[in-house]
Amino acid sequence: MTPPTSPDDLKGAARKLIREAALVDGAWISAGDGAIAVEDPSEQTILGHVPSLTADQVDEAIAAAADAFPEWSRRKARERGEFLTRWAALITANEQALGALISLENGKPFAEAVGEVRYANAFITWFAGIAEHLDGRAIDSGNAQDLILAFREPVGPVAAITPWNFPAAMMTRKAAAAFCAGCTLVLKPASATPFTALALAALALEAGLPPGCFSVVSGAQSVVGARLTGSAAIRKLSFTGSTEVGRLLAGQCAPTLKRLSMELGGAAPLLVLDDADLELAVAGTVAGKFRGAGQTCVCPNRIYVHESIHDAFLERLTERVAALKVGKPFEPGVEIGPLIDAKAVEKVETHVAKALADGGRVLTGGARHDLGGRFFQPTVIAGADDALFTCEETFGPVCPVFSFRDDDEAVARANASEFGLAAFVFSESLNRAMRVGRAIDAGIVGVNTGLVSNPANPFGGVKQSGYGREGSAYGIDDYLQVKSLTLALR
Ligand code: SIN
Repeated sequence: MTPPTSPDDLKGAARKLIREAALVDGAWISAGDGAIAVEDPSEQTILGHVPSLTADQVDEAIAAAADAFPEWSRRKARERGEFLTRWAALITANEQALGALISLENGKPFAEAVGEVRYANAFITWFAGIAEHLDGRAIDSGNAQDLILAFREPVGPVAAITPWNFPAAMMTRKAAAAFCAGCTLVLKPASATPFTALALAALALEAGLPPGCFSVVSGAQSVVGARLTGSAAIRKLSFTGSTEVGRLLAGQCAPTLKRLSMELGGAAPLLVLDDADLELAVAGTVAGKFRGAGQTCVCPNRIYVHESIHDAFLERLTERVAALKVGKPFEPGVEIGPLIDAKAVEKVETHVAKALADGGRVLTGGARHDLGGRFFQPTVIAGADDALFTCEETFGPVCPVFSFRDDDEAVARANASEFGLAAFVFSESLNRAMRVGRAIDAGIVGVNTGLVSNPANPFGGVKQSGYGREGSAYGIDDYLQVKSLTLALR
């Protein structure tokens, strides 16, 4: 099959993947009354609807996950791995159409969206590769009679709540780990971008996943979230989203003592030490900051540059940022798409206004883009106060730059935040980069790079950025529990 190439063909291929439905126990439940409209953020037109499920329908999905769990968890690990491999192959075969679907519902440029599909798929192949290696241990009991065996078993049916900024990758990062471990899954995608998750779920069924193992439930957080968190059958919740919502969900999960993985907000610092390679630091800042139009949890939110190179860095950064191409996702060469919704644009505007009120000056951008709607100009601000950017993530294409005098000050300012997801350090001295990188309170530190997203990298934060790790060899641990058997030898 020749992959579609023109924007119209790509959009057509994406639309064919749209299912205006939820998936409950292998059945597609159509969007009816009170359905949720899904918008194309670049055109502000309605792409379609998904149902707002009732509490009973969510309970059906949970019951299906509980019923399917014994059989799926007892399958040979090799078979679960083979399913993941088949799923990944189907995703690859549909890569362009899935990329186009992400562009339609999320607005990210098509090339970046295809990159997300590959990133998403890499989690599936990663976990396919470790399915057969979930070993336990034989433990010396310390006495002559007993031998202790520790097994790692799946935690049970799992719920996942995923965000709109990576409609594919945040879903597969959780789903692939769950299926690899032998868990079943009920997933609530973000209401803004449910179609990608539904399309991926359809491919999972086509790849041979038994129906009850995977339900995708759409609807109001107050209904769907409450059923998932309140159910005793669901043994774990994995959530990616804001710290505020994470706290709420953790509270709702407390009565049933669920296992939790919380990948929450960040306000990532990026430090450019005085011996940094300036070009590399500028390129890393642009790559990290403007990915997804600044709408990722690991985007640098505040850039600290040593005072001796601050002006030179700023000049080069401003040049690069001013040249970024803003536009609709299917236009060739576009690097920055629209923000997800009107509230996101307002937040970015507020951050710029506060930075200016705090003494900052705009070096490029600073306002809504001429394209109107959800488009905002890529922005560089210097001379503002860093307090706002330390305590609140902008989630938009704004790059505030500050200067510092020495490494200790840079580390102190990096750590003066309640968040601790990602951080970045640029230095040509490995010793300094290691020392500074280790002193920063963050779960993920990039050295001489602005991009840390890789299925092999343990992804997760500290402090108010949450807990648990996703992807990597550690990512499976959150889906497994240890069970021991003591053998009394006679
Ligand atoms: C996120 O923004 O939550 C995830 C970013 C990533 O995986 O790169």
